[in-house]
Amino acid sequence: MKSILITGGAGFIGSHVVRRFVKKYPEYQIYNLDSLTYAGNLENISDIEQEPNYTFIKADITDATVLSALFKEHDFDGVIHLAAESHVDRSIANPQVFVNTNVTGTLNLLNAFKDAYGENFEGKRFYHISTDEVYGTLGENGLFTETTPYAPNSPYSASKAASDHFVRAYGETYGLPYVLTNCSNNYGPNHFPEKLIPLFINNIIQNKPLPVYGDGNYTRDWLFVLDHAIAIDLVFHKGRNHETYNIGGFNEWKNIDLVKLLCGIMDEKLGRLSGDSEKLITYVKDRPGHDLRYAIDATKINRELGWAPTVTFEEGLNFTIDWFLNNKDWLKNVTSGAYLNYYNKQYS
Ligand code: NAD
Ligand code: TYD
Repeated sequence: MKSILITGGAGFIGSHVVRRFVKKYPEYQIYNLDSLTYAGNLENISDIEQEPNYTFIKADITDATVLSALFKEHDFDGVIHLAAESHVDRSIANPQVFVNTNVTGTLNLLNAFKDAYGENFEGKRFYHISTDEVYGTLGENGLFTETTPYAPNSPYSASKAASDHFVRAYGETYGLPYVLTNCSNNYGPNHFPEKLIPLFINNIIQNKPLPVYGDGNYTRDWLFVLDHAIAIDLVFHKGRNHETYNIGGFNEWKNIDLVKLLCGIMDEKLGRLSGDSEKLITYVKDRPGHDLRYAIDATKINRELGWAPTVTFEEGLNFTIDWFLNNKDWLKNVTSGAYLNYYNKQYS
């Protein structure tokens, strides 16, 4: 019997991780801690909320007192830490909340874990989920490896880099048993519609402009979210202590090519004339400090743990678009904030 605390489990990636663990490991007790910011949505995991091995805890990781009480109450075997402010554009508008949640919140969790088990970490594990954005930007060539120096360029990536450093430092200083992963851009069901793929799917459905930043020649390495959840499961159970693993899709796309692909698939699915959705593309002012290219070398996790993406981009993208087309209420609720009513009704 294992007791696992997953933070940020009402968000995009976290909800898929929570679902995987609850279903695959009925012998584990899964505690999902989330403060339900604008990005947290209990509808994402409504299908598993009645499972006997699942408990939701509404709490904020910036509250050290609450965390320390929680770790005293529960003897968690593992922590899988996903809770974060995660949107680069929001971090440019308001960096402070990124420091509060991503840096201070992570530090609070580390302290609660250390203070609860510091005398004996036997059988314990702290798994910190991070991003490839901590490495900064690549030029036209090369890949991020686990030894690429950190060079974050946005307040978001700077806050994630700081949290990674604290995790590593707690490993060195206090012997805290951690694993850390840095993953490339995810896409899939339940993706909050302010990130590129879900925003553009939503805008295409509504015939609204598709705001491409700059010249659109920025490159990202896209990974289907369920493949990320599989990697997280593997690293949590089999990753080596004090190690970092890079996770990526081997799937680089320039934004403009990806947007055109998306438009083409959606024209077909929506019964529009070929080329109709592309007319929505609008070039807008570039993001400040915009990283040119991200691409991951995922050789280490492949070699050590046998992980590789299971889904092709074509399959993943079709699945994702179909999910959004079939879940228009979800889209409507997250864009209207109505999901907060769901929470109040369910847990008040
Ligand atoms: P998300 O924004 O969809 O979800 C974040 C979740 O954290 C939300 O449910 C939110 O309510 C919760 N949260 C935020 N602040 C909190 C706080 N102070 N206390 C408790 N809960 C809080 O993010 P995501 O895209 O699912 O990303 C999850 C993690 O994966 C993040 O750490 C992110 O840095 C990392 N990551 C994301 C991507 C990606 O492409 N989305 C890629 C690599 C790494
Ligand atoms: P995003 O989904 O915000 O992820 P990240 O910035 O973490 O990589 O953006 C992906 C790429 O798409 C990035 O190069 C910025 C670009 N982009 C646009 O061109 N227009 C948009 O409206 C958004 C949200 C992103």
